Amino acid sequence: MALRQVREMGDPILEKKSREVTQVTERTKELIDDMFETLYDQNGVGLSAVQVGVLKRIVTIDVSDDGDEPVVMINPVIRESDGEQEGYEGCLSVPGKTGKVKRPNHVIVDYLDEDMQPQSMEGDDVFARCICHECDHLEGKLYVEMVDGPLQDIEDVEEEQERQRKRKRLRIKRKR
Ligand code: NI
Repeated sequence: MALRQVREMGDPILEKKSREVTQVTERTKELIDDMFETLYDQNGVGLSAVQVGVLKRIVTIDVSDDGDEPVVMINPVIRESDGEQEGYEGCLSVPGKTGKVKRPNHVIVDYLDEDMQPQSMEGDDVFARCICHECDHLEGKLYVEMVDGPLQDIEDVEEEQERQRKRKRLRIKRKR
C-alpha cells in the first residue's frame, strides 16, 4: 500500500471522463487499497480514481460517522434519485475550500464490487451527497461548478458555525 498524490483543481486530468473498468487485476486492487489509504490520510469521505491520476470508473467512500462500512464502487451508475438537500461540500482536489451545493437527498446506485459482481445500494443524506459528488468526478465535473454563491474558505465557515453555536448557547442560558 502507498499514499498517492491527490490531483488539484487546475490539473486538466480532473476534467476528463473516466473509462469503464472491464476487469479487476492485481494492479486494480492495489489502486483501490492505495485510494483508501490516501482517503484516510487526508481525512476525506470519498475519493475517485481520477483524483489520483487514473482515469478508471472507481470510487471509494467511507462516511463512517453513521456506522456505514467503507465501500468501493466500480462503474457506478445512479439509477434513481429523489428529494433535495443543500449543504456544504468539499473535495480533496480543492483543498481548504467549501461551498453550498444542492443534491438529491436519496439515491439508488448500481455498481460492481471488487469481484465484478453487480450490487446496488441506497444512500441518504451525506452518503447520497457523497455518491453524487464522486460520480460527477467520473464525468470530469467538480462540485465548484455547482456551488450556490461563492466558494468559501473552510476556516471562515467553521468560525461562523462556531459563532452561531455560541449565540445559541447564550440564548439558552438567558432563557433559564
Ligand atoms: Ni471530490
